[in-house]
Amino acid sequence: MSRKPWSADDIPNQKGRVSVVTGATSGIGKETAKVLAQKQSTVILAVRNVSKGEKVAEEIRADYSDADILVMPLDLSSLRSIQAFSSLFLAKFNRLDLLINNAGVACLMPRLMTDLKF
Ligand SMILES: NC(=O)c1ccc[n+]([C@@H]2O[C@H](COP(=O)([O-])OP(=O)(O)OC[C@H]3O[C@@H](n4cnc5c(N)ncnc54)[C@H](OP(=O)(O)O)[C@@H]3O)[C@@H](O)[C@H]2O)c1
Repeated sequence: MSRKPWSADDIPNQKGRVSVVTGATSGIGKETAKVLAQKQSTVILAVRNVSKGEKVAEEIRADYSDADILVMPLDLSSLRSIQAFSSLFLAKFNRLDLLINNAGVACLMPRLMTDLKF
């Protein structure tokens, strides 16, 4: 007996849940954010390029007019940025249901060092 392949249709409704997707400006992160918004989660696009993030948010809202999306700055190569994101998140939300740790690089890029300064 063949089983139906898993698809986004198998994801239950996420209403009332809060999701953070890092690196949601392109690729897997963008698609993940789109599906979570469609499933009615509150979705935070945690991105290092806010204007790119706003464009993605607009795109998702164009497809799902009631999408609950917020763009928040997060550069994971800077501890200061991570701390600022955390403070802002905690000021706005009292729960986190899904953390999609997607941001990253898949191929050889110029070498970058994390900025450890707070
Ligand atoms: N695609 C694949 O075949 C594949 C295979 C194995 C693993 N992965 C992993 O899956 C994840 C997504 O891959 P993808 O192909 O969708 O990549 P992608 O399209 O290049 O997207 C990567 C995302 O990560 C963000 N990002 C990179 N460095 C960041 C930082 N320091 N702080 C915040 N955001 C940062 C990028 O932001 P900007 O828009 O600002 O650049 C972008 O939004 C990556 O972690 C990758 O390593 C992918």
